[in-house]
Amino acid sequence: MLKTSTGYLASQIWLHWLVALLLIPQFLLNDSMKEAWRAIQRGNEVAPSIFIQLHVIGGVTILVLVLWRLVLRMTHGAPLPPEDESAALKLVATLTHGVLYLLLVLLVVSGGMAWFGGVAVSANAHKLMTTLLLVLVGLHILGALYHQFVLKNNLLARMKRPG
Ligand code: HEM
Ligand code: HEM
Repeated sequence: MLKTSTGYLASQIWLHWLVALLLIPQFLLNDSMKEAWRAIQRGNEVAPSIFIQLHVIGGVTILVLVLWRLVLRMTHGAPLPPEDESAALKLVATLTHGVLYLLLVLLVVSGGMAWFGGVAVSANAHKLMTTLLLVLVGLHILGALYHQFVLKNNLLARMKRPG
C-alpha cells in the first residue's frame, strides 16, 4: 500500500515543478540529438553540439530528481485523491501518476541505451515514449483543470503550498 500524507512537502512541490520545467528543453531543443542519431545510423561523423550535451545532461538531471521524488514518496507519502472525485477518476489519476513516473525513468534509460550503447530499438522506444509522455501530461493537465474549474476543490493548491 502506498504511504499517504496530509499534503506534499515543500521539496516535493519544488521537485514537481522543476521536473516539469526541465522537460520543456528536452522537447523543444532535441533537433541536434535527432540529427546526430541519424548520422550515427548512417555511419557518418557527428558534429559536436552543445544541444546534444544539454539533452543528455538535462535527461540525467531529470532522472536524479525523479528518483529523489520517488524516495520522498516512499518515506513521506502523498495525499489521498480528493473525496469528491469518483472512484473511476481516482483510479485514472493514480494510474496516470504512476505511469508518468515510470515513463520519466524509462525515457532516460532508453535514451542512454541508444546514445551510449547504440541500441537502435531503444531509440525507437525512446521516441514512442516521448509521445506517450506528452499524451499523459495533457491528460494530467486536463485533470488539474477539471478539479479547478468543474469540481472547484482547489486541488492545485496542493502543488503550490506545502500541507
Ligand atoms: C526525460 C528525459 C528525456 C526526454 C523527455 C527526451 C525527449 C526526447 C525527444 C522529444 C526526442 C525527439 C524524438 C523524436 O520525435 O524523434 C528525443 C530524441 C532522442 N533522445 Fe531524448 N529525452 C530524454 C532523455 C534522453 C537521454 C538521457 C538521452 C541519452 C543519454 C537521450 C537520447 C536521445 C536520442 C539518441 C534521441 C534521438 C532518437 C531518434 O531520433 O530516434 N534522451 N528525446
Ligand atoms: C501545467 C502543468 C501541471 C499542472 C497544473 C500539474 C498539477 C498537479 C497537481 C495539482 C498535482 C497533485 C495531484 C494530487 O494531489 O492528487 C500533481 C501531481 C503530479 N504531477 Fe503534475 N502538474 C503539471 C505538470 C506535470 C508534469 C509535466 C509532470 C511530469 C511529466 C507531472 C507529474 C506529476 C506527478 C507524477 C504527480 C503525482 C505526485 C505524487 O503524488 O507523487 N506534472 N500535478
